[in-house]
Amino acid sequence: MDLAGSVAVITGGGGGLGSAMGRVFAGAGAGVAALDLDAEAAEQTAAELAESFGVPTTSAGVDVGSSASVDGAARHVEQVLGGCDVLCANVGVQQFGAIDRLTEDDWSWVLNVNVLGTVRTVRSFLPLLRARDGWRRIVITASSSVLAPAVRLGAYQTSKFAVTGFGETLREELAAEGIGVTVLFPGGMITRHLDSSAEARPADLTRTGAQEDDLTAMLEHRPVGEGDVVDPDHAVRNLLADLEADEPYSTTHGINRAVYEQRRDAMDAALDRMGRS
Ligand SMILES: NC(=O)c1ccc[n+]([C@@H]2O[C@H](COP(=O)([O-])OP(=O)(O)OC[C@H]3O[C@@H](n4cnc5c(N)ncnc54)[C@H](O)[C@@H]3O)[C@@H](O)[C@H]2O)c1
Repeated sequence: MDLAGSVAVITGGGGGLGSAMGRVFAGAGAGVAALDLDAEAAEQTAAELAESFGVPTTSAGVDVGSSASVDGAARHVEQVLGGCDVLCANVGVQQFGAIDRLTEDDWSWVLNVNVLGTVRTVRSFLPLLRARDGWRRIVITASSSVLAPAVRLGAYQTSKFAVTGFGETLREELAAEGIGVTVLFPGGMITRHLDSSAEARPADLTRTGAQEDDLTAMLEHRPVGEGDVVDPDHAVRNLLADLEADEPYSTTHGINRAVYEQRRDAMDAALDRMGRS
């Protein structure tokens, strides 16, 4: 695709999946705004994209936990890059913990950043997308844990189911305006996700229900196969084609099918057990 003249805005653009998305859009000629809580990392992404692809870029330090911060970022992007055609609401923080040990603070933080952060991002940038009339897309980053839920990830998974529901609703509501919405379900990628989440957790949230055996328990429940944790650039290899085709769903891996199919079959069976009404 030729996206010259378009602008892609990416939250969580400071590294990992977000910067790989930046390379996808900049590689197609789009200008890119990298937004991240880590302002320096966002600036580095923007500088690398400008240097490698010769596209206009900008960056900003943004906390998706705050409406004022996300609103300010939208004004900044409009002033510097002139608008937004592709929006990737990609920030997510990870918080392990068994369902009976996750604290109120764990839940509040994860739901505020992952769910309300996604809602705030769309609310602040949707007017910019609506002001354009060309090819427009919104990408909502969920997780493969929506396809194959695992133990010890209750708050995170709940947040990713919530953003999936948000994306589904948004897709229906924006279809008539020609703004496509795709929910992305990434699988395991080599990123700083655990470290960046620890760094992003506000210092005044003192107590967490996470325990040392959470990661082991999760991996025992859903073992990760050899080669199944991939480079984010490899993970996004289909993204642009999926957006071009206006696919409702995009994945980064072809795994998790068996668990997903068991869940789908159980739902089919539940429907089959009932009559029409
Ligand atoms: N890495 C994986 O295996 C994996 C798997 C499934 C889903 N995901 C999802 O992919 C997305 C990107 O994660 P990643 O793996 O690239 O990790 P990452 O750490 O590289 O990116 C996450 C970014 O979000 C930023 N961030 C955290 N809190 C923020 C806030 N309040 N406001 C603004 N920015 C904030 C971090 O600074 C970081 O740069 C997340 O939604 C994550 O849940 C990752």
